[in-house]
Amino acid sequence: MTNQRETPIEISKEEFEKIGHKLIDSISIFIDTIREKPVTPAENPEQVQKILGNASLPEEGVSASELIQHTADLILSHSLLNGHPKFLGYITSSAAPIGALGDLLAAAVNPNVGAQILSPIATEIERQTIKWLAEFIGVSPGYGGILVSGGNMANFTAFLAARTAKTPISFKEEGFMGSSSKLLVYCSKATHTWIEKATILFGHGSKSIRWIQTDAENKMDIGELDQCIKDDLSKGHKPFMIVGTAGDVSTGAVDNFEAIHALCKAFDLWFHIDGAYGMPAAGIDELKPLFAGIEGADSIALDPHKWLYNPLEVGCTLVKEPKYLTDTFSSHPEYYNFSKDSEELTQNYYEYGLQNSRGFRALKVWLTLQQVGRKAYIKMISEDIQLSELLFNLAGKHKDFEAVTQSLSITTFRYVPEGFNKKNAGSESYLNKLNETLLNALQEGGEVFLSNAIVQEKYCLRACIVNFRTTRKDITEIIDIVAREGNKIHKTLHEELHT
Ligand SMILES: Cc1ncc(COP(=O)(O)O)c(C=O)c1O
Repeated sequence: MTNQRETPIEISKEEFEKIGHKLIDSISIFIDTIREKPVTPAENPEQVQKILGNASLPEEGVSASELIQHTADLILSHSLLNGHPKFLGYITSSAAPIGALGDLLAAAVNPNVGAQILSPIATEIERQTIKWLAEFIGVSPGYGGILVSGGNMANFTAFLAARTAKTPISFKEEGFMGSSSKLLVYCSKATHTWIEKATILFGHGSKSIRWIQTDAENKMDIGELDQCIKDDLSKGHKPFMIVGTAGDVSTGAVDNFEAIHALCKAFDLWFHIDGAYGMPAAGIDELKPLFAGIEGADSIALDPHKWLYNPLEVGCTLVKEPKYLTDTFSSHPEYYNFSKDSEELTQNYYEYGLQNSRGFRALKVWLTLQQVGRKAYIKMISEDIQLSELLFNLAGKHKDFEAVTQSLSITTFRYVPEGFNKKNAGSESYLNKLNETLLNALQEGGEVFLSNAIVQEKYCLRACIVNFRTTRKDITEIIDIVAREGNKIHKTLHEELHT
């Protein structure tokens, strides 16, 4: 009697090899020819739904081999390619190919990295990855932390640790019922939307955010921050946290961390840095002054799936005193037979964050950090910055563009037709409309993918280069494409307005 259960879900060794080899062949060709494809097929939901069909849930199964081959064709032909060298939208990087192999291996073994006993090697790989990330950005490897799904979750995790650290122990039981003073958080106007979600989801309410003005470089105004905290204290409120940003989502601005740290010390506040995008640039020697003060942070969020070029999803929360994570998230239900020695040798990651069952997302980061090494990582990130500067300079010199901002690897610019009089009434609203229409046309055109930023009420085109495939030639071609399309759209809009 064979000890094998016949199930339709198992795949034999021979079949797995055959399907796997074919799939890897398709993926290798996909990566090798990515430059020759459009950035996006720009199909609308109706077209995509038609391609997918609207069959009901299948009653009977089908062959895995056919299914995978068909699905590979479907996905490879109908996706937006953020791995394309001319994809410079939002903050989504080209994904390191080794990360795809890492995810395959991780899913094949499928350790549950919630508890050490369920994931002995994966747990240690996650711990080592977190230590390496801390070393990479130049803070003490003593920071502990956890890998999460991305920037929102990394910041949420830190937000909750901050609250635990700055409220009495009774807060865990009483919540907001036990306190009449408002728990307030301070951040600049340029802070990413996660902060609103956090205050809403965790019961503070969005009015508990003090949005501080930014200066001409989009950095938080420290004088206003100081005054705002003092005013709130005099009213009996309870400030608990300041959030600084390392690379704001619109323009890449980096806040003044030394000044924020000083205020946190003076008022006993938690100092958090949202470095979801920009933090890896702190590893570049020449940029150390820009990031001065990061070692004072109580917590830092950074996203390997942004500027460390890892496949989605992976973010990281680093906390100077990891005990605030376990104080926040640890619980010991009777159905867990896991070691409680969480501080030192045995690390059960479910005690460090919001998830219990957790995947092995550390593997792709761990592999990429080793494949590339620190030096070459610094070179790639520096080159992204140089490409962004090149774009800014080319836009600045071009007769039809206004270069607006450049910081880290984000450039904002806008199409302003040659000879256009910006002083005429209505000219700014025309330029905003022109650039918005232009962006939509570019996103549908498939030659280049940019996104937008509003800078001092100007609707700008925005390129964020977190893309190890982009070259100097791509940047010059992008300038030509945008100028050509801008010209077309200006003509059409202008005619529409004057007919
Ligand atoms: C500064 C900053 N923080 C947080 C986030 C949120 O990251 P995610 O989309 O991975 O949740 C982003 C995303 O662009 C960001 O730029």
